[in-house]
Amino acid sequence: MDYNFDEIIDRSNTYSVKYDNRKTKFNRDDVIPLWVADMDFKTAKPIIDSVIERANHGVFGYTSTPKEYFEVIKNWQLKKNNWNVDTKYMSNATGVKTIMNHFMREFIHEGDKVIIQPPVYHGFFKVVENWDGELLYNPLKLVNGDYYMDYEDLEEKIKEGAKFLILCNPHNPVGRVWSKEELIKLAKICLENDVMIISDEIHSDLMLWGSKHTPLASISKEIAENTITCMSSTKTFNLAGLQVSTTIFPNLEMKEIYEDIQERLDSNKINTISLVANMAAYTKGEEWLEQLIKYIEGNIEFIIDFCAKNMPQIKPNRPGCTYLMWLDCKELNLDEDDLIDFFINEAGIGLNDGRDFGIEGSGYMRLNVACSRLLLEKAMNQLKDAVLRKENILGKDLLISE
Ligand SMILES: Cc1ncc(COP(=O)(O)O)c(C=O)c1O
Repeated sequence: MDYNFDEIIDRSNTYSVKYDNRKTKFNRDDVIPLWVADMDFKTAKPIIDSVIERANHGVFGYTSTPKEYFEVIKNWQLKKNNWNVDTKYMSNATGVKTIMNHFMREFIHEGDKVIIQPPVYHGFFKVVENWDGELLYNPLKLVNGDYYMDYEDLEEKIKEGAKFLILCNPHNPVGRVWSKEELIKLAKICLENDVMIISDEIHSDLMLWGSKHTPLASISKEIAENTITCMSSTKTFNLAGLQVSTTIFPNLEMKEIYEDIQERLDSNKINTISLVANMAAYTKGEEWLEQLIKYIEGNIEFIIDFCAKNMPQIKPNRPGCTYLMWLDCKELNLDEDDLIDFFINEAGIGLNDGRDFGIEGSGYMRLNVACSRLLLEKAMNQLKDAVLRKENILGKDLLISE
């Protein structure tokens, strides 16, 4: 079937974080919300149908995870990434952050060091700090507008005694799809230095322009034995409110320890609706996903073109994956707080402050383009008008001072 991603769905008053928390986040509730990483689109029809069918059953008693649940995830990985992962290493959780928090709680002790690669998803900072771990920063290098891993710096940082590295594969917010070669180089350094990698692959189904995701643990047995993979259908199919994710452990001992914590915290159950939705997503969601990806590519093209023609001071990246764009706003010549104020109060649009992803994000804003083209056009026109107004004001200032 053909999906209509142009459809505008009113998400306000649905307890949506993106819409209904605007006042708290931006101090006003009328901004066009283009921030938190979920989509304004309805999910795939087979997912909705499965949820309705289950809801119509009407009994929502305790639910256990069937064997087929992990089989479905295995098959998806095999089909999408040619990764033949054994289900015996899989475990479930409500979210990727939950996985990481459980994990850090058990495996790091006060002062243990964990490497992250900023600018990077802000949740990584938190999961380490929550358990009194010490963050070591191995910032990405910006070369001709593209981000790369800095292996020399990594080798230096590793000498400080890191225990884990949290990898964003592919990368939020800069949209980098790491090549197999880049991942091998990273994994080799980590293996040599006894640093285990937690590979967050939550955005990996949203590959754009035909780019290819490499699950880190799929590269070799040796790398798999040093990798904990976190994945989820929630970004792919817009199911974040259902809270469901999967971990793939490097060995059964680690999985056992993890599941024991889950059991002690009584957090090892899958919500009935999440279970049904997740299975439908991975078995019947592909047609929708293919159309979604085309729509997102169109939105990204629109932003790149619009900025180039109307406000070249704002330089968007061309992400290789997912629906998050990284806008270089340094040529607006605003200091950091004024930049945020400008987007919210002058342009009336709510984006993520680049600094949320580390100091490397200063002068950048993260734009979520997973919304209807019409809304995006409205937002970009508001931004263009704000830039024009700002330039005029600056022009007047210049005249006054002359
Ligand atoms: C890279 C990355 N990891 C994890 C998450 C959060 O995942 P969850 O909602 O499953 O905790 C996000 C959400 O934006 C993300 O971008």
